[in-house]
Amino acid sequence: MSLEANKIAAAILVGGMLTLSSGLIANMIYGGHEGAEHGGGEAAAPAAPAAKPAPVEPISGLLASADVAAGEKVAVKCAACHTFNKGEANKVGPNLYGVVGGPTAHKEDFNYDDAIKNLKTTWTYENINHFIANPKGFAPGTKMTFPGLPKAQDRADVIAFLRTKSDNPVPLPTPDEIKAAEDAAKQAAAPAEEAAPAAAAQPEAAAQPEGAAAPAAAPAGGEDAVKLIAAADPAAGAKVAAKCKACHDFTKGGPNKVGPNLWGVVGGPSAHKEDFNYDDAIKNLKITWDFAHLDQFITNPKKFAPGTKMSFPGIAKAQDRASLLRWLRDQSDSPVPLPQ
Ligand code: HEC
Ligand code: HEC
Repeated sequence: MSLEANKIAAAILVGGMLTLSSGLIANMIYGGHEGAEHGGGEAAAPAAPAAKPAPVEPISGLLASADVAAGEKVAVKCAACHTFNKGEANKVGPNLYGVVGGPTAHKEDFNYDDAIKNLKTTWTYENINHFIANPKGFAPGTKMTFPGLPKAQDRADVIAFLRTKSDNPVPLPTPDEIKAAEDAAKQAAAPAEEAAPAAAAQPEAAAQPEGAAAPAAAPAGGEDAVKLIAAADPAAGAKVAAKCKACHDFTKGGPNKVGPNLWGVVGGPSAHKEDFNYDDAIKNLKITWDFAHLDQFITNPKKFAPGTKMSFPGIAKAQDRASLLRWLRDQSDSPVPLPQ
């Protein structure tokens, strides 16, 4: 706990310094892209050790009123390394058409380094926000040598612009998603000791069927279980999975039942079985089933995916979810790495 608190405190300090220095750097390179590739990257790198990303001001609430034209101007800073239109070539960085709402490392023909490859998540609005606020904070070791955009409004505008670069732009954040992003930022900023009780309280609320609490609210509660996964006992998880077996088969090539076959679901996309008839609650998630998302879903399915036809009240105990996910992860041709 206190190690965690130290890390967070360090991250806040580093974040503050970085915001200052990247502001200066951003000014220096405003007109020339040379700086972004050389001076910018080198100057930013020493300030960002592999600490946890500092709390970044969320932009979800700014998107609805963000200025796409202003965002296009901000994107000039990215254009040294990125193209944005459909079918355009990769440059130093990947083409970014369709990146918003897509998986990390979204271009199959781009040679990402491990910093991005290992993210294994979705480029949600807030993930992009955190990445472009401080690339090396969000993805330590990334070869994107860009110091970051310190101003939240600039990030909102450029993300609003990026959002239009898609065959099928993802919906703007809902009021619940905006609140969740703001709550998450508050939690990240709070000392770890204060954040903990909030997370611990969550499974209780989750135990109520139908998720009486606000739908899709703060992803708290999940975190506890994710931390427990690496040390959890897969045999205990197999027993917890008995609760799922009324509706799910877990074997390779096994059938769909009331719910889809779950072989390979960990690390896969939501709605991962092409031959299963999902309803919109799952279809519209458009996420990667990483441990954090799975943990939130099985804590309280109807809260995480309002309207889902998975009529299962959820698993309240973090340790049970951790064991289950530890076991579920092994039900795959190529199990994803365990969380650290
Ligand atoms: C100096 C070159 C450079 C600049 C400037 C730059 N990027 Fe990047 N970007 C990269 C590289 C290189 C990668 C791949 C990183 C890796 O593999 O670690 C990348 C990756 C990304 C990704 C992840 C894409 C994916 O498929 O996972 C996003 C999103 C992104 N950049 C957005 C931006 C935005 C927005 C800006 C402007 C605010 C920007 N970048 C400025 C070089 C740059
Ligand atoms: C009463 C039946 C039922 C039970 C019990 C149940 N599920 Fe489900 N599950 C479903 C249905 C139906 C869906 C598809 C939901 C939809 O389309 O909205 C689903 C979807 C899922 C998905 C999303 C899969 C994908 O491809 O996106 C996961 C993950 C999942 N369930 C895990 C579990 C786990 C783990 C358990 C046990 C802790 C469990 N489920 C218990 C019926 C059930």
